[in-house]
Amino acid sequence: MTALIEALDLHRTFTVSSGLFKPKQTLHAVNGVDLRVERGEVMGIVGESGCGKSTLAKMLLGLTPPSRGSILIDGQDIGSMDRRELARRVQPVFQDPYSSLNPRRSIASIVAFPLDIVGLGSKQDRRNKAIEMLERVGLPPRFADSTPGQLSGGQRQRVAIARALVIQPEIVICDEPTSALDVSVQAQILNLLLDLRQEFNLTYVFISHNLAVVEHIATHVAVMYLGRVAELAQTTALFKHPRHPYTQALLASVLTPETGLGIPDMGLGLSFPDPLHPPSGCTFHPRCQQRMTHCSLQRPALIQDEQGEVACHLYRKTEQHVD
Ligand SMILES: Nc1ncnc2c1ncn2[C@@H]1O[C@H](COP(=O)(O)OP(=O)(O)O)[C@@H](O)[C@H]1O
Ligand SMILES: [Mg+2]
Repeated sequence: MTALIEALDLHRTFTVSSGLFKPKQTLHAVNGVDLRVERGEVMGIVGESGCGKSTLAKMLLGLTPPSRGSILIDGQDIGSMDRRELARRVQPVFQDPYSSLNPRRSIASIVAFPLDIVGLGSKQDRRNKAIEMLERVGLPPRFADSTPGQLSGGQRQRVAIARALVIQPEIVICDEPTSALDVSVQAQILNLLLDLRQEFNLTYVFISHNLAVVEHIATHVAVMYLGRVAELAQTTALFKHPRHPYTQALLASVLTPETGLGIPDMGLGLSFPDPLHPPSGCTFHPRCQQRMTHCSLQRPALIQDEQGEVACHLYRKTEQHVD
C-alpha cells in the first residue's frame, strides 16, 4: 500500500564555520531517515534537542530541500509538486505561535491567509471560513479582530492550528506544538489536536522532545538520535518494550523527578555528542550502558521485524548454524 507520506533515505547537511579563519565543516543534521506514515496515523518523533527533528519537519513541509533522498505524498515526489498544491495537502503547526503569527494582522486575516494564497472564494467567504475554523478550535468570533498580542499562549496556538486547518490539509506537521505552553494548557491543545484529527481525518507527524506528550497522541513513535532513527514501533509496544538502549534511557528519564535534565538516570551522562564530530560506529555507544566492543567500530543497520525497527547490535540477527 502507498503510504500517505513517506521519506526515503532523507539526508540534510549544513555547511558550518566555527570561526572566521576556521575551515568550513559539514554537519549532518538528518542522516538517512526512512519513514512511512499511513493515512490517519500519528507518527510521533522524539529525541533530544539537536537530533534533527526540526530539520526533518522542514523537509516534510517542503521548506528545506533535502541534500539527498526524497519525500513522497501518495507516491508523488514533493520536489515535483507546485508549492500551492503542497500547501493544500501539508500544513505546519510550530512551537512558538508568537513568532509565526504576524503581530500586526487581525486573527481572522491570519487564519484566512492560506485561503488568500490559493485564492479560494471571495474575501468575505474567506473571512467567514476563518471565523468558522476559529470557533472549531475554541475561539469565539469576538477574537476575529484581535491581534496576536492580545491573546494568551494557548489561544495563539489555537490560532496557529486554525490557520493550518482552514485549507483542509491531509497532513499536519506539528513541531513541538505544546512545548512553549504551561502544562495545563498543553493537555488542552493535545486533546484539541486529537479531536480535530478524528473530525477532519487528519494524519499527523508530531514532533516533541517530551515522551509523555508523544505517548498521549501518537499511534507510532520514531526515536531519533543524531540524525537517524534509532527505533520505531507502535506507541504501546514502544512504551511497554523499548528495545534500543537509548529509548530505554529516555523512558527512564521520564520516570525520574528531574525530567527535562536530559537523561540523567542511567549513568549515561548529560552530554549530547557534537554533531560535527559524531562518535564512530553506533553514535550512541559512548552513552550506552549495554555497549559491546564492536559498537564503536560498526554502525548497526536498522533491522525491521514484526515489532518494528531498531538500529542496535543487541538485535543483530545471529547466523543460523547448520549441523
Ligand atoms: N540552518 C542551519 N545551519 C546550520 N546548522 C543547522 C541549521 N539548522 C539546524 N542545524 C543543526 O542541525 C542539527 C539538528 O538541528 P534541529 O533539526 O533543529 O534539531 P532538533 O529540532 O531536534 O533540536 C543541530 O546540530 C543544529 O545545530
Ligand atoms: Mg527543533
